[in-house]
Amino acid sequence: MNPQPAIYLNANATTPLHREVMAAMMPALADFFANPSSVHKPGQDARALVDSAREQCATALDCDPRELIFTSGGTEADGLALRGLAPRKIVTTAVEHPAVLDACRGVETVLVPVSRDGALDLDALRAALPGASICSVMMANNETGVLFPIGEIGEICRSFGVPLHVDAVQAVGKLPLLIARLPIDLLSCSAHKIQGPKGAGLLWARRSLRLSPVLAGGRQEKGRRGGTENVAGIAGLGAALELAARSLPESGPRLRALRDRLQVTAQAIPGAHVAGVRAERVCNTLNVAFEGCDGETLLAGLDLAGIAVSTGSACSSGSLEPSPVLLAMGYPEALARGAVRFSLWSGNTEAQIDRVCAVLPEVVARARGTRTT
Ligand SMILES: Cc1ncc(COP(=O)(O)O)c(C=O)c1O
Repeated sequence: MNPQPAIYLNANATTPLHREVMAAMMPALADFFANPSSVHKPGQDARALVDSAREQCATALDCDPRELIFTSGGTEADGLALRGLAPRKIVTTAVEHPAVLDACRGVETVLVPVSRDGALDLDALRAALPGASICSVMMANNETGVLFPIGEIGEICRSFGVPLHVDAVQAVGKLPLLIARLPIDLLSCSAHKIQGPKGAGLLWARRSLRLSPVLAGGRQEKGRRGGTENVAGIAGLGAALELAARSLPESGPRLRALRDRLQVTAQAIPGAHVAGVRAERVCNTLNVAFEGCDGETLLAGLDLAGIAVSTGSACSSGSLEPSPVLLAMGYPEALARGAVRFSLWSGNTEAQIDRVCAVLPEVVARARGTRTT
């Protein structure tokens, strides 16, 4: 089965594996098969791959390699951050990814609201923090790209003595991210959003925090995450983080220019609403809702034109519910239903964006013609 040639604008859902990352994974897939916990030579060779990837990750993120815990991705990293401290009260935001919101289940949780532009209500945050065991705030929103001011939020959390977890899954590779400069305590990453493999990620956790494993079993990752290491995935994560850090000075401005060009075209269509248009956003994301449209119809129309987008976060696609993120931003339900998300990656070209700009007005016009409610 050959993948369809498509203009792929769904990078916040996942990205293709970079050939350089694939090459970094090949030794683990082909030759270094042994268990890194084994004391024999083949085991130690596999261990060396894990150690070297840990160093690569720590260099890319500017953190202590001993504070990195490899996980099966962003979801597990979020779950470990939120459950590993056995919190009694969690403060988080109304627009977090389900990986965070679902990890809060069963624990007293305060959801801090956002404005129509997606900005976090910092007064409500201050009011919620007393008595909290942990605060969890995403760096970049997966649906809108809106950035939260992590430095300021971290200082606020510190003033209340509450550790801050940052879900940086959608920020890595899209803005400079140096952990040592941030007043934070935990941070989640995922490889497949930055042209790494699916099923690999990490949690950075400040050494002073006593994290209990969520996946208990073996003593891997210094007892913080049981289970034989995914050596190839970890090698891929290291390579992907290094590649992302190296490419950012070129890819960041280029993607922003392409995204902005698409945004101008979208905004010229009457009844278009760009989410977080007055907020700071990551360079690659454009979420636009068209009045009188169904996102699913828009998605289908664009798909027919060979353009792959999403109607919200990938994890909630397939359900026809309007996006909880847009609802939390105060969108009326009907407008939230008309949203599509364009999320760019480094493989997108000017010619591709020109093509999207050329077909978008017609696709929206046709979608408006078909809406029944
Ligand atoms: C903000 C955010 N957090 C967490 C995740 C989950 O990451 P993973 O797919 O690696 O489990 C995602 C994935 O879409 C995400 O966008």
